[in-house]
Amino acid sequence: MAILAPMMDLPTYSAEEPLADERMEAKGLQLFVKRDDRIHPFISGNKWRKLKYQLEDARRLKKTHLVSFGGAYSNHLLALAAATARYGFKSTAFVRGEEVNPPNDTLFLCRQFGMELIFVPRTRYRVDKMGLWQEHFGSDPQAYLIDEGGRSPLAVKGCAELVTELASRYDHLFVACGTGTTLAGIVNGIATGGTGGAPPRAEGVAVLKNAGFLQQDIRDASASDHPFRLHLDFHQGGYAKTPAPFLAWMQEFHKNHGLLLDPVYTGKMMYAIFELASQNYFSPGSRILAIHTGGLFGLLGMRARWQGDGTWPA
Ligand SMILES: Cc1ncc(COP(=O)(O)O)c(C=O)c1O
Repeated sequence: MAILAPMMDLPTYSAEEPLADERMEAKGLQLFVKRDDRIHPFISGNKWRKLKYQLEDARRLKKTHLVSFGGAYSNHLLALAAATARYGFKSTAFVRGEEVNPPNDTLFLCRQFGMELIFVPRTRYRVDKMGLWQEHFGSDPQAYLIDEGGRSPLAVKGCAELVTELASRYDHLFVACGTGTTLAGIVNGIATGGTGGAPPRAEGVAVLKNAGFLQQDIRDASASDHPFRLHLDFHQGGYAKTPAPFLAWMQEFHKNHGLLLDPVYTGKMMYAIFELASQNYFSPGSRILAIHTGGLFGLLGMRARWQGDGTWPA
């Protein structure tokens, strides 16, 4: 029987660090990074913010088994596996696609944390998540469902706290958007006056192609009419697409700054900020905060795309 650890004992404080770069300085801009990636090695970035109220809710309802969905490289599943192990829940994940042996690093670690994995053919996964949940857990009173990517109103509530924690004032807050939940929380945090003074602009960088639908999703999830800006042109070809020039840009960034990004989320966000700066999107003097939402296992998951001899895949 697992020992239930107290909830909320994971500090969410993360530093806001300046990132010196001559391309930014040349435009008169100041760039900072909020190091949410440092919250925890596996429950990293926005993941703890998204999960913590859901875990509390599950415990309040006396549920002992958390169930969720994700791809084989899902940062969300890894975070959930680590968090459930830490707080004494069982966990099961429906994983998109056939099982591959040996498992990749993400799924290997999920299993280390005791998560049970159920592999689901892509066609069924795409259209029938609720059917899967019903089939396996519909009559299990201990089971608690957490949506893919951790999306939930409770996740929005957790992400809003990021804004109230800010130690300094910024003109722009940038975050990578998958489901848009994290941005919705940030919009709420700003709307409720978390920052004091002139509010920053909430700006999301969509990592999916054709993600215009997120505009409404974020609006609905945030339940506020506070403005935000969604950048739709920095997906690099689509979800998890990583063209060679983008990988080369990321490698330069890692080398120059000693700060790792992942190619699916934070890399695309950071690339967008530099690209927008080069297009004079920001007024001189602006203070820009990039939120590092963690997910660095995504980088390891794609290491085959960085060939060791320095050549790039076609
Ligand atoms: C590292 C990382 N950053 C950003 C996001 C996007 O978060 P959201 O789905 O809340 O938009 C994710 C989502 O899974 C993620 O893993």
